[in-house]
Amino acid sequence: MATITQTIAASEEFLFKTKDIKNITFHDLPTPEEPDIPLPPPSVNPTEILELDKATPDSHVPRDPRLIRLTGVHPFNVEAPLTALFKEGFLTSPELFYVRNHGPVPQVRDEDIPNWEISIEGLVENPITLSFRDILQNYDQITTPITLVCAGNRRKEQNTVRKSKGFSWGPAGLSTALWTGPMMADILRTAKPLRRAKYVCMEGADKLPNGYYGTSVKLNWAMDFNRGIMLAHKMNGEDLRPDHGRPLRAVVPGQIGGRSVKWIKKLIVTDAPSENWYHVYDNRVLPTTVSPEMAAENKDWWTDERYAIYDLNVNSVAAVPEHEEVLDLATAGSSYTARGYAYAGGGRRITRVEISLDNGKSWRLADIEYGEDKYRDFEGDLFGGKVDMWKRESCFCWSFWSLDIPVSDLENSGALLVRAMDEGMMVQPRDMYWSVLGMMNNPWFRVTITKENNCLKFEHPTHPARAGGWMEKVKKAGGDLTNGNWGERVQGEAPVEVEPVKEVNMKKEGLSRQIDLQELKANSSAEKPWFVVNGEVYDGTAFLEGHPGGAISITTSAGLDVSEDFLAIHSETAKLMMPDYHIGTLDKASLEALNNNAAETSSEPRPTFLQSTAWGKMKLSEIKTVSWDTRIFVFDLEHDKQTLGLPIGQHLMIKVPDLTTKESIIRSYTPISETSLEGKLELLVKIYFPTDGIPGGKMTLALDALTLGAEIACKGPTGRFEYLGNGRVTISGKERKVRSFKMICGGTGITPIFQVLRAIMQDPEDPTTCVVLDGNRLEEDILCRAELDAYVALDSRKCTVVHTLSKAADAWVGRRGRISEKLIQEYAMPEEESMVILCGPEAMEKSAAKILMDQGWAKSDLHFF
Ligand code: MTE
Repeated sequence: MATITQTIAASEEFLFKTKDIKNITFHDLPTPEEPDIPLPPPSVNPTEILELDKATPDSHVPRDPRLIRLTGVHPFNVEAPLTALFKEGFLTSPELFYVRNHGPVPQVRDEDIPNWEISIEGLVENPITLSFRDILQNYDQITTPITLVCAGNRRKEQNTVRKSKGFSWGPAGLSTALWTGPMMADILRTAKPLRRAKYVCMEGADKLPNGYYGTSVKLNWAMDFNRGIMLAHKMNGEDLRPDHGRPLRAVVPGQIGGRSVKWIKKLIVTDAPSENWYHVYDNRVLPTTVSPEMAAENKDWWTDERYAIYDLNVNSVAAVPEHEEVLDLATAGSSYTARGYAYAGGGRRITRVEISLDNGKSWRLADIEYGEDKYRDFEGDLFGGKVDMWKRESCFCWSFWSLDIPVSDLENSGALLVRAMDEGMMVQPRDMYWSVLGMMNNPWFRVTITKENNCLKFEHPTHPARAGGWMEKVKKAGGDLTNGNWGERVQGEAPVEVEPVKEVNMKKEGLSRQIDLQELKANSSAEKPWFVVNGEVYDGTAFLEGHPGGAISITTSAGLDVSEDFLAIHSETAKLMMPDYHIGTLDKASLEALNNNAAETSSEPRPTFLQSTAWGKMKLSEIKTVSWDTRIFVFDLEHDKQTLGLPIGQHLMIKVPDLTTKESIIRSYTPISETSLEGKLELLVKIYFPTDGIPGGKMTLALDALTLGAEIACKGPTGRFEYLGNGRVTISGKERKVRSFKMICGGTGITPIFQVLRAIMQDPEDPTTCVVLDGNRLEEDILCRAELDAYVALDSRKCTVVHTLSKAADAWVGRRGRISEKLIQEYAMPEEESMVILCGPEAMEKSAAKILMDQGWAKSDLHFF
């Protein structure tokens, strides 16, 4: 058994020398043989700062690129691909261990770690401050395996049913490690809690918008050996990595991960639960009847301790078959082994895992492997901590289940269902308990099975970051996911009726002039742009200045049949204007000839991608999740060296087939990637999901349904505005000088504004100043926030950013309400050589324009993207 001195020596070794995890030596083990316990998988500590982290406050944290980012680039909230996690086995390597960070990772230098302090205060007889060195030297160290699970694990399923306030986790929001450190009880005992003490509040070093991260657990639990609550400084034998709380964190086994405070600085003993914002407004399961609006309006829902989550609930998931796995029946053999994980909370053991292939009518019992039990038999020291689990019977780790299934049974089934039960006889429910934060999701895990071309295709409910999964498909087909039948339509149920589309007359009354191809071509210059829609000829000359897409949208249509694009982009109001520009009908032979000669494409690789007269194809290569309803779609251009060719402040059009009608939908977007980026284009898109009675956004839903590798068409640029740099702007080709921009935006309207702001902020020579007034509903709706903050941090004289929220939570300290007169008077009054650029929902643009003009802005100084 290792003495305390050996423990310190071992600890000092990892702390003060850089230790490569590949060279872990089991010098603390009592015998030189490999013990019969699951040991950590091979691990490589990443050393490189990933490109996308460089512009964030986490630019000091090296990370593994395999992790799936669930909230965009920052803060870092990630899970491993389920198969990769499961393949690691019982213990997870620190680089694949899921991460849940509410904000930036505190930067801690190696040399400062021995003096890292933690205070024990509040209702204690002996308030003390301990250094990291004290924690290592003066307390017994233990090593024990514990699974941490985020309360949001499997939340994407809840979000697919109905959007919750939380971001989408797949089923890999959990991981297991060997943790080393002292029991929290020993530390608390030094401070001598007083008789009235009931809770231990914990606080981390990460400063967040609503204060330091903090929460509490009951003091009784912390003092109970069987509850296993500890402080940890090692994970799988190496010092904690920055994302996991380096140098010291709490580990609260059997409870949701949110209680295991990282970068821990304070233990405060109290007689009431923590009042920390993150304890009150996070990690709760409110009653299912409470809507996001009700929860926002009434604080009492949040302060009711009955709704706070501590112990985990019972849960299980299938990892094999994996999502989108295909089993070829010709080569499959006669039996297939399904596998997965199961866990329960509060130290309760998983006592059975059952599989059904007939929608829950009958169940088969799976085998269960309890990796944790191996440690109960093991006696000795590991990584500088004593492994002493014999007398503690609680179960704090996931277990693995497996079941051999005849392939013929899979072939005859539509879905494989998994459910687990714990020793309290609590079994996973069939139906989801939806709640406003989407936490503790644990209905039966369902993997659908479809037979195609002598293969079985398996589909999980969702994929954490991508579109896909059976839930989305069912929802898109109009199924009600809460009907107790996984949304499948009951036989005889009537299909939804589609409303007929109203046709708008775009022809001038009584006009009978026939036009031939020759005449059309003779009038297809930039100055005289005639174009064709539905066989009718229109003269766009009079609208060159007024067109919201800029003259370029018309001049690039000159001499062409632009029916498809025109009809897809234009509103009814725009179509109603068309009779004014209608000049005749193209004769039939000319129309045919026009369309036959239409697309001439060259096979030469082009240096820039966008073409104003032809649709180029780009391939979806990645989908990054920014929040539950916002994604960044990354597209590959035609080749690696190609740039987009989009002037700053201009837009492009994308064309995607409608999900139901398969007709083209065309919309204008501004990418968020830099226009100089080679080979790629990134679009930030908020998905408008259907809500009760209101259909969702056609284009955004179609984008969300794209799978990786899908090709979509893109054309451009469009727009009247261009930022040339150094305060030079052109509007419809006319140049003007701008010394200060007032940028007013809301929601995804940030995208064109962001292009201009970035161009200004990236050029140190550009003296133009910018004030951004960004209106959103909730704090989590604010897009590009890290980047905006970074620009303010870079030069606060040149860039001011003001966020205002119309439905802010109580704790929001920023501005509240919409873009108001007061805000405009404060930040956006007219100045010499200044202009306003606006982009957002129509109502916001209209009301802002009215206020601006009341304050003395000229109409010509306002530009609406
Ligand atoms: N501690 C601090 N200080 N800050 C945080 O953001 N996140 C909590 C918890 N402790 C958090 C924290 C949540 S919600 C979870 S699920 C776990 O840390 C995740 O731990 P991990 O990132 O090491 O997996």
